[in-house]
Order: sequence, then structure tokens, then C-alpha cells
Amino acid sequence: MMRRATRWGIAALGVAVAGCNDAQTTLEGHGPAAIRIAHLAWFMTIAFLVTAVIMWALLAWGFYKRRGTLEEHAPIDSEGGEIWIAIGGMAVPFIVLTVLFVLGLNLLSDFPIHGMKGPMSVSAEEAMKPDIRITGHQWWWQIDYLNDDPSKQFTTANELHLPVGRPVYIEVETADVMHSLWIPALHGKVDLIPGLKNYILIEASQPGDYQGQCAEFCGAQHAHMRMLAVAQEPKDFAAWEADQLKPASDPSTPQEVAGQQLFVSGPCSMCHTVRGTTAGGRVAPDLTHIGSRQTIAADSFPNNNGYLEGWITHAQSLKPDCLMPNLTQFTGPQLQDLVAYLRQLQ
Ligand code: CUA
Repeated sequence: MMRRATRWGIAALGVAVAGCNDAQTTLEGHGPAAIRIAHLAWFMTIAFLVTAVIMWALLAWGFYKRRGTLEEHAPIDSEGGEIWIAIGGMAVPFIVLTVLFVLGLNLLSDFPIHGMKGPMSVSAEEAMKPDIRITGHQWWWQIDYLNDDPSKQFTTANELHLPVGRPVYIEVETADVMHSLWIPALHGKVDLIPGLKNYILIEASQPGDYQGQCAEFCGAQHAHMRMLAVAQEPKDFAAWEADQLKPASDPSTPQEVAGQQLFVSGPCSMCHTVRGTTAGGRVAPDLTHIGSRQTIAADSFPNNNGYLEGWITHAQSLKPDCLMPNLTQFTGPQLQDLVAYLRQLQ
């Protein structure tokens, strides 16, 4: 019975670890920085696990060895008992915390900002020119792909695409309150602070989808301020980039045409941009290629017809307090037209 339980326990642990591929975990890195952080995270996890096991073993040992009542016990300061308090209460914590502090400092010094030395360092000149600017909003991420050539710049939201094997220099700032960008599979956190620009050099070593999360409490929907990082082979990334640079595709079916008409003439266009149309609102995510994204509402829900309709009519139920109002004025057929239009914005 015991052995069966143990086997199930190990199997469950295996599934939990294996299932972490796409999850937000610091224990499995998919880029040079994240791999170094993962080593430290595993060291800490194992060290604390071992400490906890030893502590429980000592407690159990004390419990089983116990004889008689508390009054009959020898005082703690007889037979050199105090030395164990000094060892367990001071010496061990001092050593453990010192080791972790030094390892942490060492790791930090390997992550450069503005051309400092390290395995992922960039020159000061390169550092002046970020590849991407990410702006935090309550509660979504604006992502601007920068380029000296203005015709090669574009804006998207909540889905960060990166070419594999190339360090990408990212500038972060916030439009409102403090946020923190954290894609655990790729790197540590970087804070978005009002009035300041921060920088992070992110590199993915394998293609894949990696979950990101705002890591600084920023209001009611902090937990729904998520992000999807999509690491792609350079040729796939180039194809994606070329698609994103294009203006929105023209609607082809009568339903899509009707949807576009509703979009540009209705409330949608006051907040959202669809490049190539008259919709030029700047306070909400750019929807030029919304159809190509995997999720909506800052990686909170799948991007499908059901959730899009729910989002348009009941955003305040799905994500209370966000800036997207409940647009209940649309009739059923109008809603379907709108969603058909959004879905073809590939
Ligand atoms: Cu943005 Cu928490």
C-alpha cells in the first residue's frame, strides 16, 4: 500500500514537472538568463527541501525519544545544550543565507544593463537602441517593434514574438502605475516604473510559447495582466514580422464588410486602432492583426468567436474594472458580423 502511494506520488511529481513546459516556472529555463536562474532556483528548492526534511526528522526523533514529563527534563543549559541553539538558530541560517546572498549577487552581475560585462552583454551603442518597447497599461501590454526605418515599425499587444537565438533588447515603461514584466522561462523580472525607462535583454534558446505575467500588484486585474511570449525560428519570426507590418486585411464576405462598418463607425474605433482603416484609437490594444493572436484580454481568454462575443458585450464580467465597456447595444447578428470581421484580421 505504502509503495503504491509512493509510486503515485513520484508519478504526480513527474507530471507536475513535465507539465511545466508552458507554465510560469523559474525551474525550467528556455534562454541563457533563465537557465542560470533555474539553476539557482533548483539549488534553493532542494536546499530548503533538505532543510525541511532534516527539521521534521529531528522533531520526530525528539518526539519518539521523549521520556517522562517536561518537569523531569534536564534544563536546556545542562550538558552543553545551548550549543545546539547557537548552531541551529544562528550558525546554520547564517551560512545558508550567506551562500544564497553571494550566489544571488553573482547571478545578478551576469545580467547586464547598458553594456555592462556579462554573457549577454550589449555594447553601449546597441544599448541606446532597443529592438522593442513594451508599455504597461492597466491591464495589458502594448508592444512596439522599433526600427530606424519608420516603415518597419509596428505596434501590437500582449503577444511578444521573438526570434530564437538572438538577444532582444527591450525597453520597458508604464502608461500609468507600476507593473513588472516577468516571463519566467526566459528571464527574471523587470519593473515598469512611472517616469523611468528600464531595460532587459531577453533571449530564447528554443522555439515555444512561454507564459508571462505582470509581477507587481497594479490593481483589480493584476492577475489578468498576462502575456504570451512566442519564440520562433528566425525565418518564422521574419514571416510573422512581415505579416504584422502589413495594414489590416480587407474584409471579403458581406458579413465581414458589415462588421468592419460597425467597427469603424461605432465605439470600437474610439479606443482601438486597425491600421489601414479610419479606426485610430490609441488607448486600447492595436487590433490590426487581432485574428492572428492566440488569446485576448492580455492572455486571459482564448481567441475564439465565443470569447470575442462575450468580451464585446460583457468585458466587465470577464475582467471587472478594465477600460473596455460592456457594449450591449449590438444585436445578435451585428455581434456575429463584428466578430467575423475581427477574426479575419490575420
Ligand atoms: Cu500590471 Cu500587475
